[in-house]
Amino acid sequence: MIRAIIAAAVIATGATVVFAQGDVIAQRRDVMKSVGGATKDPGGMLKGETAFDLAKVQKALATYQDAAKKMPGLFPDTSKTGGETTAAPKIWDDMAGFKAAFQKFEADAVKASAEIKDEASFKANFPAVLKNCGGCHETYRVKKS
Ligand code: HEC
Repeated sequence: MIRAIIAAAVIATGATVVFAQGDVIAQRRDVMKSVGGATKDPGGMLKGETAFDLAKVQKALATYQDAAKKMPGLFPDTSKTGGETTAAPKIWDDMAGFKAAFQKFEADAVKASAEIKDEASFKANFPAVLKNCGGCHETYRVKKS
């Protein structure tokens, strides 16, 4: 009985390690998907395709801040490969720069959140926040062919 329990525990632990590795990739992709989802409405508002909605804009900025806090912790050395990831090796070569890019993203979102009060201030401040997306992806993400 005890043997069986130990054996089961060993198997469970082994499985957790494998799972955790794929899991952290899935987690960070989910966080980024939520960022992508949150950007749809404000993106439409910038283009004039969606009616301006301050609450939705502020919600997106809150999602960005939350993501910027979570993301840096989701890149352990064990998650360079394995699972479907577009994270570039550069992340691990330059972890300090990568983390700084998330700090800037968060700071820009905080600043925009304070300054955006209406459609005009949204149009003046939101694009600067969105520059972080392409800027980081350009450096720290591999393009899928
Ligand atoms: C400081 C870096 C950084 C910033 C800023 C950033 N991203 Fe990302 N993003 C990443 C990385 C790294 C990945 C790849 C994650 C992986 O595949 O493991 C990613 C992946 C994604 C994905 C793909 C998710 C999937 O399905 O796998 C989307 C969509 C995305 N980002 C949207 C955005 C948007 C929109 C913004 C700006 C509002 C943004 N990101 C800002 C680093 C960043």
